[in-house]
Amino acid sequence: MNILVINGPNLNLLGEREPKIYGSETLDELMVWLENCSKSLEHKFKFYQSNHEGEIIDILHDERHWAQGILINAGAYAHYSYAIRDALVSISIPSVEVHLSDIDARENFRKKSVLKSVCIGSVQGKGKNSYLEGLNLLLK
Ligand code: DQA
Repeated sequence: MNILVINGPNLNLLGEREPKIYGSETLDELMVWLENCSKSLEHKFKFYQSNHEGEIIDILHDERHWAQGILINAGAYAHYSYAIRDALVSISIPSVEVHLSDIDARENFRKKSVLKSVCIGSVQGKGKNSYLEGLNLLLK
């Protein structure tokens, strides 16, 4: 399966950004770990990170003929980007929403995800294992 992994704004600062919430590993370390998990080995991955909403939409459009499944941690965009939601609906590729932290246990504005209902699943609060569980949902 061809898996597109998209990480949104501020996730490029993982490792130094609020480590008590997001852990001490960098995004590169997390993605290398994900790609090398035993579950991942027979699948192809493309990894992107962007701090820009439009760029995330462009990636979804550009990779729509390659990707067969999407893991998306849209960062704060998950809480309000109807444009990213529309892009996911437009390309209709099974997608799983991922968050490192438990967005339901934090500030109120994080409790709402506008992406959740257009994804086949959602995993949050498990650190890097959120990505692995998300992958398992895609592979089911
Ligand atoms: C996050 C949660 C979001 O609320 C936040 O804006 C992020 C990271 C997470 O992975 O826990 O940037 O998506």
